[in-house]
Amino acid sequence: MPISLIVASSEPHFREFVREHLAHTPGAKVVAEHDEAGLNVYVRILHDMERNPHAAVLLDIGGDPEQGLRALEHMKNAMPGLYVIVSEYQASSEFLIRGMRAGASDYIQQPLKRPEFRDAMTRLEQHMARAQQHGKPLGKLYTFVGAKGGVGTTTDAVNFAAVCARQQKSTILVDLDLDSGDAASFLGLNPQYSIYDVVENLDRLDQSMLDGIASRDAIGFSVLSPPDDLEKARMIRGDHIKEIAAFLVEKYDAVIVDGSRGLDEALLGCLELSESVFLVLTQEFLAVRNAQQYLAALGKLGFSAEQLKIVVNRYGKGQNSAVSMEQIQQTLGTKIFYAIPNRYQDSMQAVHQSRPAVSYAGDLQQAYMGMAKKILANGASSATPASAPPPERKKFLGII
Ligand SMILES: Nc1ncnc2c1ncn2[C@@H]1O[C@H](COP(=O)(O)OP(=O)(O)OP(=O)(O)O)[C@@H](O)[C@H]1O
Ligand SMILES: [Mg+2]
Repeated sequence: MPISLIVASSEPHFREFVREHLAHTPGAKVVAEHDEAGLNVYVRILHDMERNPHAAVLLDIGGDPEQGLRALEHMKNAMPGLYVIVSEYQASSEFLIRGMRAGASDYIQQPLKRPEFRDAMTRLEQHMARAQQHGKPLGKLYTFVGAKGGVGTTTDAVNFAAVCARQQKSTILVDLDLDSGDAASFLGLNPQYSIYDVVENLDRLDQSMLDGIASRDAIGFSVLSPPDDLEKARMIRGDHIKEIAAFLVEKYDAVIVDGSRGLDEALLGCLELSESVFLVLTQEFLAVRNAQQYLAALGKLGFSAEQLKIVVNRYGKGQNSAVSMEQIQQTLGTKIFYAIPNRYQDSMQAVHQSRPAVSYAGDLQQAYMGMAKKILANGASSATPASAPPPERKKFLGII
């Protein structure tokens, strides 16, 4: 969040210094200026705060420290959460203690100097970031897994991430296909760092470090990729992924995982925190059979039917040797959450242009927008209402 500052000072050069400095700080601005810092200024500042509720105050009490401290006390009584930076000439410990008791959040000595002012702005930014974080609901983790290779798991995960980012959700796509992840190349990205670098820095991981490691798609979402080196990939453990996932849901609204095919340690590490697991398959016999096994394994691990959602990719009617949608539902004993139509040309066009298919007008765009709408609207609930009995589970071979 950019800095908004209300400045109160009887010194024109003080106000000028602040204005000039903030002009060089991206996004930062002075939202109100007052040419006095006496007792009455606090009423005007409270009015400013109505228009700029996230603003902080810089109060120059150098002209009359006693009056200034009283103005500060009044402000803090009226708005205890207000961040006020006090500035004056003396820096005696006695004065600092009095300022602190009156409710000052920070202090800058005059005459103002650039490095000290910059440090104070950094502290303000950190305070704002913490305040924003505080009370923010945890983000949601959505995991996409494929019942079989090549069914379109990465395509679904990438497009869902794109829709989330378009809807102004802070979004990160995590490619957990540690052996052969290709989400970044779907987006034309060439990552320099990987999940392995996150693992190596887990004990000091913060948002700015993560921003340095992740790549960023033009739509605005971040992408964490697997390492190129398979040996490094092998060193990524389930507990690492669990810790990273816990960190990410604190920082992002939507964490989207392109999962590996097998139920490996890394995938299990993030499944636990997943609000939904999307099992992607096509209408192929093998994919449906694998999906059946996958669901059984996830069921044994304690996943409820509501958390597991079936996405049928490349859906089409009357395909040769295709399993019908009804057969899929009967075999898996659950309703299909969403079906994405088979549009090979459009899909390949998106791949060749390294953009998500949802960026191009057409059926795939409609389908991915519809899928995202359904995911985001019903949160954790599944297409099969919890109260309704699931369809009878049949043996796959019995219905084909
Ligand atoms: N709805 C669709 N219609 C037609 N083709 C599609 C569709 N969705 C994806 N594809 C194509 O299917 C191929 C495989 O897609 P993708 O890489 O997303 O699958 P995957 O399950 O992640 O594969 P892998 O097992 O290699 O990770 C790609 O060429 C993609 O363009
Ligand atoms: Mg894939």
